[in-house]
This record gives sequence, C-alpha cells and structure tokens, in this order.
Amino acid sequence: MLVLGIETSCDDTGIGLYDGQKGELVAHTIYTQKTHGAFGGVVPELASRDHIRKISPLLDELLEKTGYKLSDVDAIAYTKGPGLSGALLVGATFAKTLSVGLGIPAVSVNHIEGHLLAPMLEEQKPKFPYLALLVSGGHTAIVKVNSIDDYKILGETLDDAAGEAFDKTAKLLGLGYPGGKILAEQALKGRPKRFVFPRPLINRDNYDFSFSGLKTHVLNTVNKIKSKLNTCTIQEELQTMHDICYEFQEAVTDTLVHKCKKALITTDLKHLVVTGGVGANLCLRQKLEALGKSQNVKTCFPKLEFCTDNGAMIAYAGFAKLKHDFDKFVEKDFAIDINPRLNFEKI
Ligand code: KG4
Ligand code: ZN
Repeated sequence: MLVLGIETSCDDTGIGLYDGQKGELVAHTIYTQKTHGAFGGVVPELASRDHIRKISPLLDELLEKTGYKLSDVDAIAYTKGPGLSGALLVGATFAKTLSVGLGIPAVSVNHIEGHLLAPMLEEQKPKFPYLALLVSGGHTAIVKVNSIDDYKILGETLDDAAGEAFDKTAKLLGLGYPGGKILAEQALKGRPKRFVFPRPLINRDNYDFSFSGLKTHVLNTVNKIKSKLNTCTIQEELQTMHDICYEFQEAVTDTLVHKCKKALITTDLKHLVVTGGVGANLCLRQKLEALGKSQNVKTCFPKLEFCTDNGAMIAYAGFAKLKHDFDKFVEKDFAIDINPRLNFEKI
C-alpha cells in the first residue's frame, strides 16, 4: 500500500510517500514558510495562503523525484489537527479532493500522533510500548505509546511549550524568530554558574511542565543587570547574553530530563523516543543519551527532518492506522473535517 501524507498544521507544507509493503519511506519533501520572521510569530492567514501556493507544486516535485504517478497512490493521509484552522483546511481539502478524484481511501491523522510515530520511519525502530518525550513549538508532553491508537499522556505543559519558551526567550534577547536554534547556538559560548535559573515543577510528584516562568526569569535577570550593561564593553555584553542562553538551556533540558527519568523509573519502559523540533537540541540529546545509559534504556532520536513537522510522519501514521483497523479509520464521507483543538488521546 502506497500512502501519500499531507501535513499543513502550521507553517510547514510537508508531503511524504510511504510504501507499506516494503515498510519504508519512499521520499518526502517540505517547504518551511519564510514570511513569518518579520512578524515575530506565525501569522495564520499568511500561513494558509502559503500552503495554497506550495502544496500542489510540492506534490508534483515529489512525484517527479520518485518516478511515481498519482494513480500509483493507494491511500491519502492528512493532518486533521491540532493546528491553525485555515492551514489545516488547505491540507484537508487537498487530501479529500485527491481521495475523491482518484477513488482511493482517505485517513485523518492527529499531528501529535504523527510526531509520536515518527521514529518508526527510522531503520532502528523503537518497540511498543515506549516512552516518548514530545518537545515542539506547540506541545510538550511525556507520553506512553502502547501501540497504534493507544496513547497515554503522563504529563504535559501547563503553559508554554518547550519550543515556545525557547522562541520567546530568544525574542526577548533580540535573537530573532524562530529563535530556538539560534539560542542553542549562543548557549555553546556561555559559561556555567554565572546565572542560576529555576527548574520548574521538578519537586512535584507528576510529569507536568511549566516553562512560562523561566522566560519571565530571563526578563527579570536582563532588567536587573541593564544598568551595568550600559557601562560594559560589547564583548562583555555578548558574553552576558551567551551566559543567559547557557543557563536557560540548562534549566529547560534539566527539567525535561528529570521528568523523563521519573517516568522511566515508574513505567519501567525500556525505549525512550524524543520527537518534535526541540529534539534537535544537542544539549538535550546528550543529557537524554546519558539518562538512557544510566537507566539501561534504549534512546531513539529520529533524524532532524523527522523530528520537525513533515509529511513523512503523516504518511506513516496514516498507513499504520489503516493497517491496524481499516474500517475504524477510513473516512466514510466527503466532508472536510478538521479540528484545530483535536485531543490526541481520543483520536
Ligand atoms: O516540531 P516543530 O518543527 O514545530 C511544531 O510543531 O511546533 O518545532 C519547532 C520548535 C520551535 O520552537 C523551534 O525554535 C524549536 O523547535 N527548535 C529548537 C531547536 N531547533 C528547533 N529548540 C531548541 N534547540 C534547537 N536546536
Ligand atoms: Zn509539530
């Protein structure tokens, strides 16, 4: 079964082609929108318009690259939610139109479900059940992935997602948008112990996170040292910024790793998967790798292209759902059904 996956939940237009028979990804292609940087955040209306412009050329590009024709495709998977309603509508309409036009089944996928199953695109696949740390711009959660269609959220963020906290902190430090990756690069030049930020909620007996206070902590720190910064050299000012980035990254990653350790001990799971854009963070990867070794747990980091939003994970999740229970998951009508606030435990 050849499944075409379509992802348009936010500012990435992603298309993937998954070959279920061979159990491998054929190829995928992605366009990351560039129009939002000037606004310091994703502008929903601009996102929808860009998806409309790009979705069809991207599909053509993928088919040309792989040598497949549309008539070779057996099923279409698309992201139903959560995400921006206009952006989701573009992908869902495109997918359902193809499904009707080609006379092939359509299946909707929860965006989070796509992220959780993304490691299955790798050669070394984790085994069910596994623990997943989902850390993206919109979501932060620790999830027990029992099998396809059986996910249990152990904890999630009560306010900002980890990526959102990185982005907001980067913005207030003047590092641009989206600044998570830039902040991480600046942190490499930072020195330990000059600043001490809190590790939010680590003493709570649960797996929840709260990152919005950390961003305020950075703001207060900057305000406190502002008068000193006026009299120091550019190099000293830069070093201060690097030191703040360092401690911020330490605080976020320590917190994530602490809760993962607790969840691994409680659940006794032997596979830990990291997914979502912040999964690209080197400091987080190193700490989780060390955690895996100390707990005798196998860690699995999907390639960066599968960590961030992409169509490949949607194609795979669509295939897996149809294979798991075709009658339950195949769409029964032509309705364009999206849900910007889709709850993923009840897909
Ligand atoms: O999963 P993703 O591509 O999109 C969402 O579904 O949100 O994640 C994007 C997030 C952004 O917040 C971005 O700043 C963050 O991932 N990010 C990073 C790094 N690379 C991307 N955060 C920290 N360190 C990085 N190296
Ligand atoms: Zn995502």
